[in-house]
Amino acid sequence: MEPKLILILILVISVSVTADYVRPKPRKALHFPWKPKAPSLPQQVHISLSSEKHMRITWITDDEYAPSIVQYGTSPGKYTSITLGGSTSYSYLFYSSGKIHHTVIGPLEHDTIYYYRCGGQGPEFQLKTPPAQFPITFAVAADLGQTGWTKSTLDHIDGCNYDVHLLPGDLSYADYLQRRWDTFGELVQPLASARPWMVTEGNHEQENIPFFKDGFESYNSRWTMPYQESGSPSNLYYSFEVAGVHVVMLGSYAAYDLNSNQYSWLKTDLSRVDRKRTPWLLVLLHVPWYNSNKAHQGEGDRMMETLEPLLYAANVDLVFAGHVHAYERSKRVYNGRSDPCGPIHITIGDGGNREGLATRYNDPQPEWSVFREASFGHGELKIVNLTHAFWSWHRNDDDEPVRSDEVWITSLVGSGCHAGKGHGQRKILMEP
Ligand SMILES: [Fe+2]
Repeated sequence: MEPKLILILILVISVSVTADYVRPKPRKALHFPWKPKAPSLPQQVHISLSSEKHMRITWITDDEYAPSIVQYGTSPGKYTSITLGGSTSYSYLFYSSGKIHHTVIGPLEHDTIYYYRCGGQGPEFQLKTPPAQFPITFAVAADLGQTGWTKSTLDHIDGCNYDVHLLPGDLSYADYLQRRWDTFGELVQPLASARPWMVTEGNHEQENIPFFKDGFESYNSRWTMPYQESGSPSNLYYSFEVAGVHVVMLGSYAAYDLNSNQYSWLKTDLSRVDRKRTPWLLVLLHVPWYNSNKAHQGEGDRMMETLEPLLYAANVDLVFAGHVHAYERSKRVYNGRSDPCGPIHITIGDGGNREGLATRYNDPQPEWSVFREASFGHGELKIVNLTHAFWSWHRNDDDEPVRSDEVWITSLVGSGCHAGKGHGQRKILMEP
């Protein structure tokens, strides 16, 4: 072969190799060295929405006598209000949790920075309440864990201007080791103490020991969500409203059959949605229903079979899921096919956990699947007004402003897909 030709061949090969995107490898678990702390010092501070004008502040102290009070106000160091809340604790084999404080503060003004202190001592934290109206921005990331990639995801989210964090399951990857719940609380405190974190459970929250421990005790004790406020009998599924958005958090690991509490609660909750007050309707759950990755293939089918007609009848705009460690966005879908009146499904289980990415996909790509990629990252949903929202997915390998996938989404409210019109399935909400 001519030397010139060989050189050209080498050049072509090297260009095509460097042009290929190289998927990142898993990163190591983070190391959390033990530091001495005063027993009454607040640790693992995080906040969540309790109602439209109230916020739940959660923190842990080693001191069981530390008071569950939160002092707060709109100027640094000047606390004009004080609220006394409650506390809980739990034991798990040889582990005893600290005192877990939950204090609901408010009424709070919208879109306002509050300065607050937990237990009457320790550092001052600050939070920003969500706006009363659009626009509102949600950061979305699931399957976080506590690795170098988790840190990278959190740093990226920290760089975006968001109001509420949505987390569809798999938080700490504690997996029975209770200390990992504590280190996860420490890891997320800088973000979770500043903006509400609204979470639902994944499989890694479930810590069963047959005949001894049942289910989600650690998760429920530490990450109490507004289930009572939304009429739900369980912390594993609930709903909340914020700035014109109704958000339903479903429980992939709570019973969902036709006779279950979750099914009847969901039916009631959806029937109460007033699209004039909340034009956008979002649903989050852990196990995806539309997934073309080989990982966890078909796992969400039974839940989808039972609950998808309810979501379709209610004109849900978007469904976010985790579990599969990759990113995938669908068209509007229903019953396994594209449907202009169904929700868009987004799998965003690429937060950074220690198990790594799910890189193998079904071929060919299903017609409903628009974009799929196995990379670590997070999503941002900016709901601009009652009809338009902008969704973007950001890879950790890129600078925060870079969007790897983006799409404008139109709400079903303005689309002619009104509940009760034209679709047989939509009558389901009218039935007793
Ligand atoms: Fe999972």
